[in-house]
Amino acid sequence: MAYENIRLDTEGAIAVLTIDRPKALNALNTQTFLEMESALLLLPSQVRVLIVTGGGDKAFVAGADIAEMATIGSAQAREFSALGHRVMHLLERLTIPTIAAVNGFALGGGCELALACDLIYASEKAKLGLPETGLGVIPGFGGTQRLARTVGKMRAKELIFTGERLDAAKAREIGLVLEVLPADQLLAHCKTVAGKLIKNGPMALSQAKRVIELGADQDLRTANELESQAFGVLFGSEDQKEGMKAFLEKRPAVFSGR
Ligand code: HXC
Repeated sequence: MAYENIRLDTEGAIAVLTIDRPKALNALNTQTFLEMESALLLLPSQVRVLIVTGGGDKAFVAGADIAEMATIGSAQAREFSALGHRVMHLLERLTIPTIAAVNGFALGGGCELALACDLIYASEKAKLGLPETGLGVIPGFGGTQRLARTVGKMRAKELIFTGERLDAAKAREIGLVLEVLPADQLLAHCKTVAGKLIKNGPMALSQAKRVIELGADQDLRTANELESQAFGVLFGSEDQKEGMKAFLEKRPAVFSGR
């Protein structure tokens, strides 16, 4: 399928989804979201890790498209927020791990997009923040919720109330990004991490992700019950049999993802 505002490049089991509107610093407009939705729904089955990044050398994503939002009313704003949520949920619920490679500005909707990924790595020139209150609005693609869950409620309030941009080092200090890399090494680093993940059992990664995500919204006892169920489910998989057999035979496992 031909896309205008995104690119999907697949190398074996690793795919890179690039938000690619560098003239608008990769701002998310309706068309971009629809293209992202289509790409996520049609992700080739051999893909085991998805990396999300921004096209050009300045931005990951500089936010939702302000030009598109400037003239809309309440009903359309709600729809636009709902569309963004739909795509973020789709990303978050993929059964494979996702990695945000934040290669520049990740502001507003861009920061929210990174937060919907499982792991976030940033380049030294990344700037992250939620500046929406300066535009008279609030984050609308899950930022008020996912930022608080990632860095804690009080930090989230500070960032959203002030709208301040954090540099990569500060973002790492507060746990918003995992590691900071020189710009020219960011994507390679993300691919190295992806390479480690694809050596592990796909079924196990999928269940680990599912249980961590679902469990975060439950009390500990219920969440641990989800863990036990998933642990049991994995013992019905070929991956579990192969993983343990390979260990006993002192050889690397070859997982089928079934
Ligand atoms: C539309 C954008 C944009 C955006 C940048 N551009 N961000 N267009 N929406 N979010 C466009 C600019 O208009 C400009 O177009 C071109 O990209 C280059 O941007 P400049 O501002 O000239 O670059 P620079 O001076 O380097 O400043 C970079 C920047 C600044 C600091 C990132 O662009 C900026 O502050 N952008 C907006 C960031 C923001 O407020 N994001 C949150 C949006 S609200 P032209 O045509 O002039 O070259 C949001 C809500 C999500 O995300 C929830 C919605 C439901």
